[in-house]
Amino acid sequence: MTHTITLIPGDGIGPEITDATVAVLEATGLSFDWDRQLGGMAAVDATGDPMPEATLASIGRTNLALKGPLTTPVGGGFRSVNVALRKAFALYANVRPAKTIVPGGRFDGIDIVLVRENLEGLYIGQERYVEVNGDPRGQAESVAVTRANCERVIRYAFDYAVRHGRKKVSLVHKANILKYTSGLFLEIGQEIAKEYEGRVACNDLIVDNAAMQLVLKPEQFDVIVTTNLFGDILSDEISGLVGGLGLAPGGNIGETAAIFEAVHGSAPDIAGQGLANPSALILAAAMMLDHIGEDAAADRVRRGLVATIVADGVRTRDLGGHASTAEFGRAVAARVA
Ligand SMILES: NC(=O)c1ccc[n+]([C@@H]2O[C@H](COP(=O)([O-])OP(=O)(O)OC[C@H]3O[C@@H](n4cnc5c(N)ncnc54)[C@H](O)[C@@H]3O)[C@@H](O)[C@H]2O)c1
Repeated sequence: MTHTITLIPGDGIGPEITDATVAVLEATGLSFDWDRQLGGMAAVDATGDPMPEATLASIGRTNLALKGPLTTPVGGGFRSVNVALRKAFALYANVRPAKTIVPGGRFDGIDIVLVRENLEGLYIGQERYVEVNGDPRGQAESVAVTRANCERVIRYAFDYAVRHGRKKVSLVHKANILKYTSGLFLEIGQEIAKEYEGRVACNDLIVDNAAMQLVLKPEQFDVIVTTNLFGDILSDEISGLVGGLGLAPGGNIGETAAIFEAVHGSAPDIAGQGLANPSALILAAAMMLDHIGEDAAADRVRRGLVATIVADGVRTRDLGGHASTAEFGRAVAARVA
């Protein structure tokens, strides 16, 4: 069976890390049909639009994309590409696994998956001014949560836990203060948790305590599910536990489409020099393989990457090594083949 996938190499280091990642995926022996499309500045240069219709149409056909980082054009009235993609394909869950790969860091044995609501809350800027005492901007309001989106993302987190053999889901909220806007999320989470009793344990934490517990006792966490803005902050904190963004993959999941990417940006400071670490995009590609049911190939990619870094000591400069992006990709591909 051939998997047809939209491939957006993106900007800056994007093309380099995409080439390395494609080499690793091809080494799995699976068959891929890559539909290469433009996004970001590369697309602005070619078409004047950072997310051209042709790219959206391709994802609409394949329902699956692997995306390099996109440089966000500053000014010029360009819409945010990532927000546009989330909206266009209703990518309601942002999934960010963080696992210790390089031992000996400040934290060891981290294995946490954060599931973040991706479509609403303070984060998306669906906001308005309300007149107060004749001042047209006397108050600013934002839509916090909806029942439908809370249910969808929380259910996704529990189903993810079941599918990946995980034991616990932690609901992270601020329901002690935000009785309605965060309270609704918690209430729905506790209802859904009952359906998974005996299969997946559930607890809840207030977000400020969760932030502290993550650095005090990270081993107590397994899967975390939370609302958009809390997830935005906690997911970077969790990436920090495993040494930063260089090894952090992410998936944006919708009912039909899904887009996988590295969490880091286009790193213009090192672009075109063969210095970039492709690991985050390779790990994102492994998440994509899981998503399409190619679990065995996904495991081989992850094990190949870890063996390359830890056992073989082949590392890019950011991890203290000398391998170029392409050399590192070839080393992982050789381990996977
Ligand atoms: N998902 C995305 O498309 C996405 C995400 C974040 C930032 N961006 C965009 O990327 C551009 C640059 O953003 P930034 O500089 O704030 O963040 P960045 O993540 O691109 O870079 C931050 C630092 O990390 C280093 N770095 C990042 N990825 C690396 C890798 N794979 N290997 C080695 N070093 C790496 C960079 O060299 C830089 O020093 C901006 O236009 C921003 O909007 C895009």
